[in-house]
Amino acid sequence: MSNSRFLKACRREPVDATPVWFMRQAGRYMAEYRALRERHSLLEICRTPDLATEVTLQPVRRIEVDAAILFSDLLLPLEPLGLPFDFIKGEGPQIERPIEGPDDIDTLHRFEPREKLGYVLDAIRQIQRELDGRVPLIGFAGAPFTLASYAIEGGHSNNFARTKALMYGHPDAWHRLCETLSSVVADYLVAQIEAGVDAVQVFDSWVGALSAADYREFALPHTQRIFAAVQGKVPTIHFGTGTATMFPEIREAGGDVIGVDWRIPIDEAWEIIGPDRAVQGNLDPTLLLGPNRRMLDEAEDVLNRVAGRPGHIFNLGHGILPSTPVEHVQMLAQFVHRASRH
Ligand code: CP3
Repeated sequence: MSNSRFLKACRREPVDATPVWFMRQAGRYMAEYRALRERHSLLEICRTPDLATEVTLQPVRRIEVDAAILFSDLLLPLEPLGLPFDFIKGEGPQIERPIEGPDDIDTLHRFEPREKLGYVLDAIRQIQRELDGRVPLIGFAGAPFTLASYAIEGGHSNNFARTKALMYGHPDAWHRLCETLSSVVADYLVAQIEAGVDAVQVFDSWVGALSAADYREFALPHTQRIFAAVQGKVPTIHFGTGTATMFPEIREAGGDVIGVDWRIPIDEAWEIIGPDRAVQGNLDPTLLLGPNRRMLDEAEDVLNRVAGRPGHIFNLGHGILPSTPVEHVQMLAQFVHRASRH
């Protein structure tokens, strides 16, 4: 398994062809996922190892991906922390009683992930049995800023006004919240590694809402503790979007592999990130809607810019959109392998 293209690329070793996987490679763009969702809610799938295993394997069967990603959700640790939530059709996640101020933060409680999120760990063990060495399995969790933003906003937000108001207005409470989140996430990732994941990705999907200076003050120390806790156990990927202005801070927080979205050419990004890290990215997910010629040209441009340098994992700058035709995803993965083979 450690000889797989994906894990080799994480370690910046040469590979026979560029490894590729896609964020949200399991999900609504696939008919077999939609069929399962007619009978089960998203949370049911996440909490039932048989179902989470089935959905994790769906893209591995259909697309030439070099890694599987655990089917789960970023928000699962919020409930045992004391923040129950649900997914509302068409609207996304909704936290029942979002954090309003410092007092709410003091009521959160740390927990043992092996107990409260044991179903995720069971799913990991079952997925690894069924994958049987075909491709490595990526585990994941959210970074403190992105998790805090859901806990405070109660769902998705465009300007993160409530999050930033708490951050600027009550910095001590903010740091207490992020310390709680980082310790829970660190424990959770260590438990995922013990259960058998081959790599872990930390999603800081919305951290691009911060300036580099605010990232350094309010996010970096917390994310850094998470990477320190898993350092040297398995390769780590640090993903964010809108981070082109803060790569020095992102790399300082940690990650063997740094995620790059589509807003910056990948070679320029790598120049700033530095040669001692691998990079993952960076096609705009919207290109997969078509036309295919443009999708493949842009994919080729990514490969040309990387120019065969070891340590590139091909991915999108963010997740596959639900309206993406599955054939386009298949074609793109094949293209990346063929065009990069040497
Ligand atoms: O294939 C994979 O990438 C693994 C599965 C996965 C899911 N969520 C399943 C899911 C992963 C890695 C996540 C992480 C996640 N969850 C993130 C970080 C990744 C990112 O996209 O930035 C975030 C921010 C969340 C929180 C979350 N979960 C939101 C905002 C939503 C609604 C958004 C939407 O597209 O409707 C979800 C729901 C969710 N999680 C879906 C899936 C496949 C939507 C599908 C459904 O309702 O069945």
